[in-house]
Amino acid sequence: MSTLKIGIAGLGTVGAATIALLEAEPTHGGSGRNIEVTAVSARDRNRDRGFSLEGKTWFDDAVALAESDIDVFVELMGGASGPALASVEAALKSGKAVVTANKALLAANGMHLVGLAETAGVPLLYEAAVAGAIPAIRTVRDALAGIPIDSVLGIMNGTCNYILTRMENEGLDFETCLAEAQRLGYAEADPTFDVDGFDTAHKLAILSSIAFTTELDATAVSVEGIRGVEPADLDAARELGFRIKLLGIATMTEEGVDQRVHPTMVPRGSALAETSGVTNAVSVRGPAFGELVLSGPGAGGSATASAVVSDLTDLARGLAPSPLGRPASSLMPFRRPQAGGHRGAFYVRLPIADRAGAFAALASRMAAEGISLEQIVQKTPHRPEHLPPLEQQTVVLVTYPTTEAALGRALAAIEKDGVIVRKPHVIPIAQTL
Ligand code: NAP
Ligand code: HSE
Repeated sequence: MSTLKIGIAGLGTVGAATIALLEAEPTHGGSGRNIEVTAVSARDRNRDRGFSLEGKTWFDDAVALAESDIDVFVELMGGASGPALASVEAALKSGKAVVTANKALLAANGMHLVGLAETAGVPLLYEAAVAGAIPAIRTVRDALAGIPIDSVLGIMNGTCNYILTRMENEGLDFETCLAEAQRLGYAEADPTFDVDGFDTAHKLAILSSIAFTTELDATAVSVEGIRGVEPADLDAARELGFRIKLLGIATMTEEGVDQRVHPTMVPRGSALAETSGVTNAVSVRGPAFGELVLSGPGAGGSATASAVVSDLTDLARGLAPSPLGRPASSLMPFRRPQAGGHRGAFYVRLPIADRAGAFAALASRMAAEGISLEQIVQKTPHRPEHLPPLEQQTVVLVTYPTTEAALGRALAAIEKDGVIVRKPHVIPIAQTL
């Protein structure tokens, strides 16, 4: 039986789990080839990683590993530049197939790396980069190839979904939940990528390029993370019949592809609302098939390793799909619709000064922008009688569908009026999920 020689750079959460999975399963999906890790690289050679280095050549330098006598270079270090970029470039230029879980790398350099892979005529596979163990890339690239897609959306960051779930269900604070997600190996080395929405944006841009056959443009995503979500929002969501989820949403419009990442009010009972903890869910919609929803573990060592190994098994079977599903030269240039045009209903939390006429001022500014209000609720916390009344109150508004731009103008006017004491917090409502 012939051997596919694998070099792995990065032996942390995903790298160590990939080696454990490969060494536990010697048959490799009936590919007829041994998939053997023959060389590895990380920063610290002496760290105990739970597997033996015997029979594996150690490289201090990931680029040297990429250029060594291997068939496939597996990049599991992370980072959009530095050693990850240099080593993947080196591997592709020296004719090695590449497998990576690094969405930040692909988001920043996708078209460049696809170009190198095409020039060298070698595969560049990255199933693990989007939604952990879920075969999201395969589904959109292979199973739905040639079938029109209207939208791709979902929960694509395990860390954020884990944090929001525990904050909602257990009343824990944000920092405690984030620390736990880091301990469990879900978070990025720099967790701001997770909580500020960029990791979801990277994944969304990759999926969107394949789904809509456009060049990959991760700079054209409007991004808001979960730091602004407060317990008051989670309570209000419960009362209104929603859960708050960080969604990535890419939609084909007449003006181009709208790519957005933001916390979203999702109706309770829907597949996305009931996706909890580290689980991810990706929904793909198209006129021919309606909706497909894929769900499964979105982060963590062994779950992500399973996607890395699935790519290696494809290579062992001799499969070599185009990185973005078709030659880069046949992809359409990316076009982005004008900002502010997005239409939908919105939840707005406003900390208002407790003075006469405040409600009327809010309502009239909304009316001036043609925004109808479905609900307007003043949240007055219980206060013992001997204490003076609070000087500020929280008001929650739910709008009927309007545009982001109109709501932005109304809120700017409300701020200017001095009716609110802090910035309002706006969360789009997804009514059709
Ligand atoms: P990690 O636990 O922090 O591991 C990173 C590994 O890279 C470590 O072994 C580290 O070496 C090594 N490394 C860092 N800089 C290096 C350098 N300059 N030269 C050689 N080795 C270097 O990260 P991870 O969670 O496994 O993530 C790895 C990649 O998978 C990232 O791109 C991440 O976005 C992606 N990913 C992660 C998950 C997940 O759930 N964790 C899921 C999907 C995708 P030392 O061990 O010696 O420090
Ligand atoms: N940090 C990422 C997440 C890892 O939490 O989803 C999986 O891509």
